Amino acid sequence: MKQKTYNIPAITKFQQKYQTNKAKPQQLKIASINTQRGTAIYGNWKMNPSTVEEAVALSHDIMLKLDPYFKTKPATAEVGICPPSGLMTIVNGMLLDSRAAKPVQIGAQNIHHEKKGAFTGEMSASLVKSLGASCVIIGHSERRGGQSAYESNKQINQKLNLAIDSKLLPIFCIGETLKEKELGKKYDILATQLFEGLKGLKEKIKSGNEMIIAYEPVWAIGTGKTATSKDAQDTIFYIRRFLSHLIGIEKALKIRIQYGGSMNEKNAMELLSQPDIDGGLIGGASLKAPEFSKIVQAADVKQKIHQDEKAATEAIKQFNLIQANALERLQKAKISRSRFYDTTEAMLKDLKAKKQLQQPTQIEIKPRASV
Ligand code: PGA
Repeated sequence: MKQKTYNIPAITKFQQKYQTNKAKPQQLKIASINTQRGTAIYGNWKMNPSTVEEAVALSHDIMLKLDPYFKTKPATAEVGICPPSGLMTIVNGMLLDSRAAKPVQIGAQNIHHEKKGAFTGEMSASLVKSLGASCVIIGHSERRGGQSAYESNKQINQKLNLAIDSKLLPIFCIGETLKEKELGKKYDILATQLFEGLKGLKEKIKSGNEMIIAYEPVWAIGTGKTATSKDAQDTIFYIRRFLSHLIGIEKALKIRIQYGGSMNEKNAMELLSQPDIDGGLIGGASLKAPEFSKIVQAADVKQKIHQDEKAATEAIKQFNLIQANALERLQKAKISRSRFYDTTEAMLKDLKAKKQLQQPTQIEIKPRASV
């Protein structure tokens, strides 16, 4: 089904202001440097495997691979698996059995948009929850686009509402098709999906932790074509900016935004090292235990980046402190500023040489001037 975009004044206003990459409002910088959100790696098994026996074997293999890793160190990522609904209880049981070191979440792939009633073949949010699910994928393109359903943005909005009310963590999927991308409509589509999907939810999203968003370009799903890490980062950056417009910057900075679409053991680390990419929704690769486990472990890159950032911030703080003290002393001693800046530049070089300073460009050396 062709997706409709709407001429919503709020979106239009936003698009005019932010869509061009020239605009760099203050909030963008904040979004980029926030590394506190945590990482979420979820497997979406879709309509696989074909039998209970295969599902048991796959769950077993996944835990065999993950358990030793979970035991060696606190894992960086929150991990979850979303099997077909009929397999949820059995997979949950398997994961529970081997959850010694770290819980693996279990999730559903869909819920119905009504609470209950005469809806043949559907699953309610409350049933999914009582079957052990802690999360649910909502608005996957395979359900929006007519491959298995024709979900509208309005229904997706109802489902998100219900999931939050039922204390299920929704993984809210958005993404553009190849045609929409080629027509230059990517940002309109994403903005519309977010705007319509989150209608009326501003107050329910209290901290930002109640939801995960998955950016899944439809052309990358199951095709082996991945968005480049730069493209994925830029788009997710845009999504976070648009979210800050819809629900406020504080919450937008807390929401984890995953990338989905042919993420695999080879590209995971590069994608996950992007500042705004907070995890992955993994289809095909989650059906291969060794590969899924490698993707989970690739999320350690986030911890490393965070440590480096902390070290760099500390070095910068110390440097500024030394600089401020030195300036004060030099002023007292009436030594010229140009000599002071010679000294600070020398100190900067020294810090760089000692590799204490990872991001020297963040320090501004002011132009020389005599006292
Ligand atoms: P893929 O699927 O990893 O097989 O591309 C991702 C998804 O559809 O969630």
